[in-house]
Amino acid sequence: MNINGKPWRTIWLEPDSRTVSIIDQTQLPHHFEIVRLTTADEAVLAIRNMLVRGAPLIGAAAAYGVFLGLLADSSDAGLGAVCAKLVQARPTAINLRWAVERMKTVLAPLPPQERLDAAREEAAMICEEDVRLNEALGKHGLRLIEEQYQRKGRPVNILTHCNAGWLATVDWGTALAPIFKAQQAGIPLHVWVDETRPRNQGAHLTAWELAAAGIDHHLIADNSGGHLMRQGQVDLCIVGTDRTTACGDVCNKIGTYLKALAAADNGVPFYVALPGSTIDWTLEDGLAIPIEERAEEEVLWVTGLTEDGQVRRVRIAPEQTRAANPAFDVTPARLVTGLITERGICAASKEGLLTLFPSQSLG
Ligand code: MRU
Repeated sequence: MNINGKPWRTIWLEPDSRTVSIIDQTQLPHHFEIVRLTTADEAVLAIRNMLVRGAPLIGAAAAYGVFLGLLADSSDAGLGAVCAKLVQARPTAINLRWAVERMKTVLAPLPPQERLDAAREEAAMICEEDVRLNEALGKHGLRLIEEQYQRKGRPVNILTHCNAGWLATVDWGTALAPIFKAQQAGIPLHVWVDETRPRNQGAHLTAWELAAAGIDHHLIADNSGGHLMRQGQVDLCIVGTDRTTACGDVCNKIGTYLKALAAADNGVPFYVALPGSTIDWTLEDGLAIPIEERAEEEVLWVTGLTEDGQVRRVRIAPEQTRAANPAFDVTPARLVTGLITERGICAASKEGLLTLFPSQSLG
């Protein structure tokens, strides 16, 4: 997407063909910084410390991480070691495992001297596919926003949680892709942006993306959504997902479940946008998904800009207070109105998913 008229992606290979560049998302919205990765260990840290985050982008970064690992050692042992290291970087987003498995499947049968070129090509292909799939799901999701506009005849109010914009992917985003498409189609809209404590991806990233795109939005405290829904001020919720089970349960950033409950109680359609790579066909029950538990510092401290322009961390709780920090929750399929995928929109159920991905019924 464009920043000040210049097109950007979140990850790319530099012309030296040995360096992978990323936008450091821990610095946004106050600083726009590029970080260069040259080793697999740097890729692991970029994922673990959330310089790159969002399920599809984690997958793309892991694919390039495999490539960087092979630069140092393309033997069988080297390939095995780098893949093992990368899959452990973060536990919840399934795209990580999906991308590493895909790289391994392509690379393992090749002789070591052919692996590097193949890894570079496969990682680039994963990135290109991600862009294509997200744009396609954006077109399908656009229909939902159009319908709301036709029905209401005024700007459509959409609530989103966390950041599932282009920063969470290689480009376009998942939940925000239909919003970007609606803007391009000239549909008036307004977005309620959940701040998304503890790391504030809504405040830091989604608000930044929407501001850069010139899309009308308000940042809201995470607790405001239910009230706004009761007031009739939300027409549609669209969120992303880090892992969707074969039965349509959705694991997404902590707090998503509460929004889905409020949406169900108020008859507000609740959609989840995802590329096929985010579906875990091996799991049916969302409660089996490993939930990442992150450091308590993320809850006890917040980062922001001081009035004199310094980015600072401040502690918001007493010295002796401990914090719990589960990073994701699971929204059961029964609370999800539909899944927006690159192949169309389906019910959040096994039957619904299989209508769009019929080859999975064979496995
Ligand atoms: O911890 P994060 O920032 O990697 O989590 C990302 C999310 O949960 C997003 O909501 C997103 O929907 C999933 S990726 C499109």
